Amino acid sequence: MMVSGGIQAGDEEETPMDAHAGAHPSDLYRHVPVLLEAVLEGLQIRPGMRMVDATVGGGGHTEAMLQRSAPDGLVLGLDADPEAIQRVAERLSHAVQAGRLRLVQSNFTQLRQTVHTHHFAPVDAILLDLGVSSFQLDLADRGFSFQQDGPLDMRFDPAQPLSAADIVNTWPEQELADLIYQYGEERRSRRIARYLVRHRPFETTGQLAQAVERAVGGRRGERLHPATRTFQALRIAVNQELAALESVLPQCLELLKPGGRLAVISFHSLEDRIVKRWMQAEASSFVQDPSHPQGGYEKMPGLRIITRKPIVPDAAEIQHNPRSRSAKLRIAERL
Ligand SMILES: C[S@@+](CC[C@H](N)C(=O)[O-])C[C@H]1O[C@@H](n2cnc3c(N)ncnc32)[C@H](O)[C@@H]1O
Repeated sequence: MMVSGGIQAGDEEETPMDAHAGAHPSDLYRHVPVLLEAVLEGLQIRPGMRMVDATVGGGGHTEAMLQRSAPDGLVLGLDADPEAIQRVAERLSHAVQAGRLRLVQSNFTQLRQTVHTHHFAPVDAILLDLGVSSFQLDLADRGFSFQQDGPLDMRFDPAQPLSAADIVNTWPEQELADLIYQYGEERRSRRIARYLVRHRPFETTGQLAQAVERAVGGRRGERLHPATRTFQALRIAVNQELAALESVLPQCLELLKPGGRLAVISFHSLEDRIVKRWMQAEASSFVQDPSHPQGGYEKMPGLRIITRKPIVPDAAEIQHNPRSRSAKLRIAERL
């Protein structure tokens, strides 16, 4: 069985290429959900609830939410990736047929509209489990992984116009360096960007991984492949992941019932900072506004923070699922 969560800098485990040899086909897109019990407890999942899983992925959390809310809990599941939707529709077909699971290929930037189109609001619980799914990493042709050679793609939604190849092959050196530094938290960003600009175009993940490795002067005994952070940065840029997160959070608050809960699992410090600051601002009864004579004004808080500090996986979970190790879970309740 494939184990995975989202991915953060340095999180693409270097599993042997034949790790899945002999596995049953349905196991190939099993996804071990990260922080599962904490999510179910934090969202207070129980029978009769209406829940949105805005990042269905391999359907791990969706499946558990359906089980915990049996016999009559309902899940509206979204993913930008049509392949994720199709796979989960097959795997959880019993729930779809029973009318308990509705699956929609949609970017969560459109959450408000999608939920209203399906007459699903208001909801009791929303889950955002950010980043990439294990099956996306496993499929070479999606171009997320440097372990398998595939086209330089990395789009969650293959219908969107911008791919990783477009960025790598056309962006100016300085912008490429900034991107790799900021989203990849990669110290060697300038060296990498310079090398890439000199040696482009690149067509495949293998070519890019090799170029990054050469740019930094080889492996030097590093546990992680030197291209890990560059790949992560490109994926975040291709899918505009930070902007998508900024856009979905206020929509979640709007869609929740009073007392309804939002859980966000992030895998990158920039994502966690966005979630933390947004929750703090919404939970506050004061809006900072420098143009105001008192430096701001009073308002009704929109939510209550349940997790003062983010919940992180314990050692046993990290050992079982190494990709979970950078996960941070924050939960808030609508007032
Ligand atoms: C870490 S995986 C979710 C795994 C899932 N919780 C499970 O247990 O199998 C993240 C998923 O979110 C999807 N995704 C990322 N950004 C998205 C967005 N803006 N809108 C919709 N889906 C998105 C990705 O395509 C990916 O399948």
